Amino acid sequence: METRICEVDPLENNESLFAEAAEILKQGGLVALPTETVYGLGADALNPEAVVHVFEAKSRPRFDPLIVHLASARELEQVAVVPDELSATVQRLAAEFWPGPFTMVLPKAVAIPDVVTGGLNTVAVRVSAHPVMKSVIKALGHPIAAPSANRFGRISPTCASAVMKELGGRIPLILDAGACTEGLESTIVQPMVDDKGKAGIRILRQGPVTREQFRNVVKIIRPKPTPKTEDNKLLTPPIVPGQLASHYAPGKKVILKDKNETFVPDNEELDYGLLSFEGTSTLAESYDWTSVYTLSPGNGRLAEAAVRLFAVMRQMDEDEDIDVIVAECLPETGIGAAMMDRLRRASADRT
Ligand code: TXA
Ligand code: MG
Repeated sequence: METRICEVDPLENNESLFAEAAEILKQGGLVALPTETVYGLGADALNPEAVVHVFEAKSRPRFDPLIVHLASARELEQVAVVPDELSATVQRLAAEFWPGPFTMVLPKAVAIPDVVTGGLNTVAVRVSAHPVMKSVIKALGHPIAAPSANRFGRISPTCASAVMKELGGRIPLILDAGACTEGLESTIVQPMVDDKGKAGIRILRQGPVTREQFRNVVKIIRPKPTPKTEDNKLLTPPIVPGQLASHYAPGKKVILKDKNETFVPDNEELDYGLLSFEGTSTLAESYDWTSVYTLSPGNGRLAEAAVRLFAVMRQMDEDEDIDVIVAECLPETGIGAAMMDRLRRASADRT
């Protein structure tokens, strides 16, 4: 299949392009679409056969559920059933963080096919602020199920050319609205009541909306400690693949190091590249790196680093002079927590 990239110029009238994208989706086809976080691979969320194609195109296991995107929070009732005890919390979160880089997991409505939720009785719902995503949902007249537009387990694409590298030949159309402004996948929370019956949220995936921001709006319910067997072994908690230890991974080995450490290579034969926050650190100066890639050169701004993280990881993965990526730990405040979450998963043992 030939994959077309169509540029969307926000200053022009793009109605015919949106209608064309919607037509592909109506026919059960797939379209890659921009959001402010990362590019998504969209299908008509109410068409189970179309959704199956998403799993096939991504080589994604069927049990890993997708996020359903709405044009506005007003459509929430079409896809989710909000229990009375969570209604005020959900409304507050929607008012505060939608449209935006924010996803809520809620009990699913019957309209949502099981294949979207991987058989779970909950559905992940997001209202993106990106005008292209919004316009295509409106043109389709249905919500759009969209995971990140990468092959399973790989780095999420933050521009159209990255989507092309991941899914070229597997999908007919990519709408190209330039680089994503957030660059990290949405924060996912699940509204729930705690042991004392008080409503709040559990954070399932860290992202652009930070713990600090939630604190002012809702109670954050900490996850229960993972149960242990009698001989003190951890029982594996029930997880969905986005929460797998190894995820968001480049093809190359990734090693995480503190910025104040000095680096000593395991293997002198290999070429080590450094992924540095500011480019200046004990770690950066401790070794003759094949190359140093810097996320926020000179001034160490976490927001700039977040926008660039996946694109730079992709460049390092493609850099033929590097065998191993050494990533410097970032400050774990604000969006830094979500970036460290992705770096830890990228460096997790994949065996
Ligand atoms: O920023 C984003 O969230 C992007 C854009 C395209 O919206 N989407 C995205 O989708 O990152 P995906 O499929 O790559 O990651 C969604 C995560 C997965 O880890 C999945 O397991 C989790 O959301 N998820 C989906 N439905 C869930 C549910 N009902 N319960 C718990 N986790 C769920
Ligand atoms: Mg993904």
